[in-house]
Amino acid sequence: MSEASRDIIGLYDDYVMPTYARQPVAFVRGEGCYLYDAEGNACLDFITGLSVNILGHCHPAVVAAVQRQVAELGHVSNLYHTRPGGELARLISRNSLGGKVFFSNSGAEANECAIKLARKFGRDSGDAAGAYGRHRIVVLENGFHGRTMATLTATAQPAKQEPFRPLLPGFTYVPFNDTAALEAAMGDDVCAVMLEPVQGEGGVYPLTQEFVDAARRLTREKGALLIFDEVQTGMGRTGTLFAYEHYGVEPDVMTLAKGLGGGMPIGATVAAPEYSQVLSAGLHGSTFGGGPVACAAGVAVFGELLAPGFLESVRKKGNYMQSQLMELAADGLVVEVRGRGLMWAVELTAAAAPDGAGAAAAAEANGTAPAAAVVSAALEQGIILNNTSPTTLRFLPPLTVEMDMIDRVMDFLHGALAGPSA
Ligand SMILES: Cc1ncc(COP(=O)(O)O)c(C=O)c1O
Repeated sequence: MSEASRDIIGLYDDYVMPTYARQPVAFVRGEGCYLYDAEGNACLDFITGLSVNILGHCHPAVVAAVQRQVAELGHVSNLYHTRPGGELARLISRNSLGGKVFFSNSGAEANECAIKLARKFGRDSGDAAGAYGRHRIVVLENGFHGRTMATLTATAQPAKQEPFRPLLPGFTYVPFNDTAALEAAMGDDVCAVMLEPVQGEGGVYPLTQEFVDAARRLTREKGALLIFDEVQTGMGRTGTLFAYEHYGVEPDVMTLAKGLGGGMPIGATVAAPEYSQVLSAGLHGSTFGGGPVACAAGVAVFGELLAPGFLESVRKKGNYMQSQLMELAADGLVVEVRGRGLMWAVELTAAAAPDGAGAAAAAEANGTAPAAAVVSAALEQGIILNNTSPTTLRFLPPLTVEMDMIDRVMDFLHGALAGPSA
């Protein structure tokens, strides 16, 4: 490791809270599908900042939009209007639910807004039981919606929640893809069902068509909102602009972040027209939300995603990646392949549990973490991968990835999983 790397890592050791298990690498530059460390080594990025750099690093359209905007007008408070915010809201609305948008700075904040919108909607509907009327929000076990207290409460993963109890009241957890449990949870006090169409941090678990259909039907019957958290699945990641398109089911509210800014921090909550006035003046806000620089980046990202053939190429590359991952399964090197578009996971050992917890617990009990070993081995060979559990490898390549890059990662996986280190 060079002096430059040691220096950067030392600063983190001394001054940054230890909330992440960081790899011993310092990146200083990014270009396309590659990151470069302080020694100048190129690393093929198959995580993309956890689905943020969807156009790769420093995409020229994003860089130009940001440079232009920051030199012209960097920040204006939300007491006023700016063109990039209006234009990005129009792009999101016209390409999704047709209603209005609230801008924030992250996925958790986008979901926080959706939760507040649902609570206010429930309060306004005024026909339900209890002191707070229709206020309960139903979420799925193994989901991930963020780290603020409300979104952590919505994140039904006990290990993440436990140190911070007591959580917020008014959330109910149902098992993933369990239609009967969802139906049973839909009391008169439910104001919303919130879910990820494909659970991302939980290990890339897609919802079944039957479950999504049931969620849509039950929320309609009960007068509750259906909220899709597309923070990770949105912006082309699954091969369509938004993952709900695969199911032919439109939610009432959708949240976005990650890829929306192509590397700039931004979150967005979009509501269908009939719910676009629920949050009126003074009920919600964010100092930085909807700032012109982040929104200009978002407009540039949309420009690329909507270019003719772009999403089709994502689907084509996604199908290729799936076929390659299935070969790993056919060779007995992985036990399950899950995902869609360019969002994939493989299960390395043990029978995959529906909630991802069984295999992880089994590996932990055995004192093994094969996925972490593969991630470290990949990094040594200049490939950036991620594991969501001790047994689950996740792949989130840039949507601009090329076939030969997929081949390189597959070659690595064949070697690493067949070899003794895995
Ligand atoms: C589906 C989903 N929702 C919400 C979040 C939280 O986003 P952020 O870290 O930007 O707050 C994430 C982050 O991984 C996510 O994957």
